[in-house]
Amino acid sequence: MRKIYLSPSFLSANFNNLQKDIEMINNSEADYFHLDVMDGVFVPNISFGFPIISHINKLAQKPLDVHAMIVEPDNYISEFAKVGTDILTVHYEACRHLHRTVQKIKSSGMKAGVSLNPHTPVVLLQDIIAELDLVLIMSVNPGFGNQKFIPNSYKKISELREMIDNSSSNALIEVDGGVNKENYKKLYDCGADILVAGSSVFKAEFPVKMIEQLKQI
Ligand code: DX5
Ligand code: ZN
Repeated sequence: MRKIYLSPSFLSANFNNLQKDIEMINNSEADYFHLDVMDGVFVPNISFGFPIISHINKLAQKPLDVHAMIVEPDNYISEFAKVGTDILTVHYEACRHLHRTVQKIKSSGMKAGVSLNPHTPVVLLQDIIAELDLVLIMSVNPGFGNQKFIPNSYKKISELREMIDNSSSNALIEVDGGVNKENYKKLYDCGADILVAGSSVFKAEFPVKMIEQLKQI
């Protein structure tokens, strides 16, 4: 049986007391820290950058799964590595020379992920899938937490699962946006490995319990 991993998105964390939420995740069954970096250009929102990631990294006891929703990510790869990023995911739509970007991420000592917006077809990854450690399927339009899951994402996850299983790739499939206790099982059944969950975890009455539940297959 495939494993299921959970990556809580800190976009929905309490920024008045980040330490408390970091410790909560450290002491939970979560597997990663999902950190959403937005530049106000690639997406219509601005979140946080290197100083915050670096502070989180000092306390986090699990790998940092950084989701870069930014244009020109190549310019910041070494900085992402410096602040403690373990997996750096860039957007397909933001990279002119994706292969070069992926090589640069790996040679900087990080795992390389590529994210697809809801309108971007999975087939476009055919010639790079063998190079990737992770593919992130956006199941909402990137930019904000707490949006509604787009059902077409199920089909994309199944297609990607097939593409990976029929190749030499060991890429993990991550799903991001609108993941909750109603849809997580179906996402796993379609082939997802890592579930990102922001509002469903941090806005839950008992976040640690919710994390436990979202890992129950
Ligand atoms: C959206 C971000 C997500 C977001 C998910 O652009 O990439 O990681 O925080 O939030 P929820 O789980 O609330 O949809
Ligand atoms: Zn994200």
